Amino acid sequence: MPIISANHLTAVAHEYGTPLWVYDAPTIRDRIRQLGAFDVIRYAQKACSNIHILSLMREAGVLVDSVSSGEIDRAQRAGFSTGPTVSGAAGIVYTADIFDRPALRRVVNDKLEVNIGSIDMLHQLGDLSPGHRVWLRVNPGFGHGHSNKTNTGGENSKHGIWHGELNQAVELVRRYRLHLVGLHLHIGSGVDYGHLERVCHAMTGLLNDLDHDFEAISAGGGLSVPYRDGDRAIDTAHYFSLWDRVRRQAESRLGHAVRLEIEPGRFLVAEAGLLLAEVRATKQVGRNHFTLVDAGFNDLMRPALYGSYHEISVLAHDGRNLSSSELRPTVVAGPLCESGDVFTQGAEGVVETRALPPAEVGDLLVFHGAGAYGASMSSNYNSRLHAAEYLMDGVNSRLIRRRQTIDELCEMELNTRSHGGSDV
Ligand code: LLP
Repeated sequence: MPIISANHLTAVAHEYGTPLWVYDAPTIRDRIRQLGAFDVIRYAQKACSNIHILSLMREAGVLVDSVSSGEIDRAQRAGFSTGPTVSGAAGIVYTADIFDRPALRRVVNDKLEVNIGSIDMLHQLGDLSPGHRVWLRVNPGFGHGHSNKTNTGGENSKHGIWHGELNQAVELVRRYRLHLVGLHLHIGSGVDYGHLERVCHAMTGLLNDLDHDFEAISAGGGLSVPYRDGDRAIDTAHYFSLWDRVRRQAESRLGHAVRLEIEPGRFLVAEAGLLLAEVRATKQVGRNHFTLVDAGFNDLMRPALYGSYHEISVLAHDGRNLSSSELRPTVVAGPLCESGDVFTQGAEGVVETRALPPAEVGDLLVFHGAGAYGASMSSNYNSRLHAAEYLMDGVNSRLIRRRQTIDELCEMELNTRSHGGSDV
């Protein structure tokens, strides 16, 4: 599981302090290569939207998906173009189930391609922008995810156009003279292999019934990654071959080429990122041994929100040899004034222990597999500041976000003159 050496991690923690997010650029590039058979890899930037990570993606030929006006802004700052690229695919696609007003303004002004998730979006866009390029995101009636909270299909999900309403959506595409780019299916995040296969079958069915021309299909994202030692990685070649078959059937029906897009977030960045935290206290509470660190769920929210598992390792601050020490069942928790601020917990919030070498104050704890939905989901709860982010990239290794300051945090409350109701 370690992707960056202990010496490097210790050095950056000393230089930039903790908590600190660290990403490994070669690992991201490797995951991009693994999906290279798809015509377009469209990065779901919600997984990690740092502008430098976005630029790395762009330089590697990846396009981007944005889900808010803010994410569109980030993509543009990272150099993504709004219009079509040489492959015909748009540099940026806006995917959502609603247009909030800033997003609608932006999409119309910048002529951004939109992945439509509700019938109302078609009316709102069609009224303002005939000819606009749209995808239809379809809820196929089933979904799956690593947690109920990341399942985006079926009757309990707010996402996408219900498959039974697809004909109505296509009618509206015609009525408003919109340009249909293609169909998109994304049934959830952290999806198992069987469900991913089922999506291919669902797409074939939808395309056969679709009474309209189109130029592309999108497999969505959702690919799982190994979070625990021993978890199996997805067979990307097989996954591509399933989708390629769907594409070929569409091509033979339409009589022209169909572009095949994929839209992963987690797969590209999860394993490339980790969170470094310093041990600040250890305590015995009845039978439980606690190790308390200076990162909390305001930094890495996934364990508290979903009961997600992240491998944890210990780096000794004083050169002690931890490999020979006896492992101890340990509860790892953060600094927040909230009992749920525990990194070792199950799906129902049950506190669990992890077998770890005995950590001392001053040691570093490494939370692995934290590159996706780590920094991008952090908050300022308890007035804790957004941590810094560091990118390991050989001679180009560098800080890619400095730590937030308390002045920056308070400024929005002390200076309310600029009300920020405009663009983003
Ligand atoms: N496309 C759409 C339309 C999505 O809604 C998502 C994720 C993706 C692509 C990328 O999914 P991925 O390949 O990363 O699984 N915070 C949760 C994940 C929420 C995902 C939301 N949508 C987590 O930490 O697991």
